[in-house]
Amino acid sequence: MNLRSVLFTIIWLLTMLLSLQSGAWKAKQKIVSEEEAKQNANYHMHRPLHAGGKVSMAGQFHLELLSQKDGTHLLWISNAFRQEMDPAGFSGKLTIEHPDGKTEEIPFKRVTRKKVLVAKSGPQSGQVWLTVDGMLGSSIPFRKMKFFWDYEAKMVELGIPNGLDPMLPMPIDNPLTVQKIELGRDLFFDPLLSADGTVSCATCHRPDHGFAEPLSISKGIAGRTGRRNALTILNTAYYHSLFWDGRSASLERQAVRPIFDHAEMGFKEEAEFIKRVDSKYGSRIKEAFGKPTALRTIAKAIACYERTLLSGDSDFDRFERGDREAISLAAQRGRSLFFGKARCGSCHIPPLFSDHEFHNLGVGGGKDLGRFGVTGDPKEKGAFRTPSLRDATLTAPYMHDGSIATLREVIEFYNAGAGPNPLLDQVIHPLNLSDDQIDDLLAFLQSLEGRLADFKKLIPDDTSNGKEKE
Ligand code: HEC
Ligand code: HEC
Repeated sequence: MNLRSVLFTIIWLLTMLLSLQSGAWKAKQKIVSEEEAKQNANYHMHRPLHAGGKVSMAGQFHLELLSQKDGTHLLWISNAFRQEMDPAGFSGKLTIEHPDGKTEEIPFKRVTRKKVLVAKSGPQSGQVWLTVDGMLGSSIPFRKMKFFWDYEAKMVELGIPNGLDPMLPMPIDNPLTVQKIELGRDLFFDPLLSADGTVSCATCHRPDHGFAEPLSISKGIAGRTGRRNALTILNTAYYHSLFWDGRSASLERQAVRPIFDHAEMGFKEEAEFIKRVDSKYGSRIKEAFGKPTALRTIAKAIACYERTLLSGDSDFDRFERGDREAISLAAQRGRSLFFGKARCGSCHIPPLFSDHEFHNLGVGGGKDLGRFGVTGDPKEKGAFRTPSLRDATLTAPYMHDGSIATLREVIEFYNAGAGPNPLLDQVIHPLNLSDDQIDDLLAFLQSLEGRLADFKKLIPDDTSNGKEKE
């Protein structure tokens, strides 16, 4: 560190302390100058500071969690420059969700004079979702920040791209094997899975369109129109709940739904479907699972394939790792807006750029009831899951109804305070961004376009090539 960097840090810290003291943190966000943006790049690393920890970002702050088998869960809070903060003013809890639906809540306690918080539970095993909720002081909220943990984790050999969580959520009863992945890939691209043999999963999840499709609302067999815009399959492995309304809890459970959906692939009879798949894939299914063709084995194979469609190592990820040249200055200013004044980062939380939660943005005039259809909670009418923004450059049009054609128009939509709705999320308000600032935010979103893990092997040769950089 040179003298200038040290001085800059001290001034920055003082400013932040003052703004925290006066409760003006929210109002004080300002756009960084080019020089500041460069400095920022120098300090900001999105990597864990402690071996085995995992990092997620909320606003300008980072939470790092480290969970151990003996039930010790350690939490560190660091600022935008990855300086660890004194957590004395933090009050919050850890929620542990087990696969059987059991949950435990444990408050975080401060260890005397150390910059770490601890939540102690009983011994842990298997796989859980850990959620951190809390407030630092009275003005810095950490809302429902989710971390996946596998205490038996065997690292996947796939090579998880930079920037993504290296611990890939995966059910214990469906480990990845090459046989299953390749079988799943062939099923995914095979129109044999639709009643009239015309539609495959890849019809609506196109590799050349970021595994989504250009139609606003999907069309299935015989031109039947569905209800919503197709979501991408990229990085779906990391979601806690699937679909715009979160109605499915795992890729395994989701995988065969479209097959029996009237407007998608249109099969009516399970037996007929199994017979069809068995005639072509029976022996490969037997080989991969040691079991005959059944909905479960088909679903598991497709899920294995989907789980390998990982996109990361974007220019943004390279920047976060300290490559100061990886994104343009416009994107760096956009990054500051994203996590600051524009508040995008309070819902689109890295590394996935989703908080796994449901919000109402007043899209589509309330015709689609969204999350309400799953929970029946009137407060969730018109709420939809925050989608990841990784590779959003590839997946136009946008929103659950595909009603917005370009990313620039999405930003303009937020700038105007989103759509009118009595249940509009409280974070949403008009942003007063200038045209230049909108361009900066757009440049930042463009920096989130990723590179795929082991991409070539995952797309059969006879379909159009997906994107590939380098
Ligand atoms: C007719 C078009 C169509 C076909 C065919 C189709 N999908 Fe989809 N898919 C969609 C739409 C639309 C959504 C979003 C629906 C919603 O959220 O209600 C979606 C959502 C998904 C999701 C959830 C992604 C997320 O982020 O939560 C997965 C996974 C998925 N599809 C996998 C598949 C698989 C596997 C197949 C083949 C067996 C398939 N889809 C066939 C249109 C299609
Ligand atoms: C209150 C939480 C919240 C905030 C704040 C927020 N978003 Fe979103 N974002 C969502 C939700 C929820 C959706 C889906 C809404 C729908 O379809 O009804 C979404 C959709 C999007 C999409 C479309 C993605 C796709 O695949 O269709 C983009 C792009 C986007 N947001 C960017 C931004 C930007 C840029 C900002 C800051 C200006 C921002 N978001 C702020 C929750 C949020």
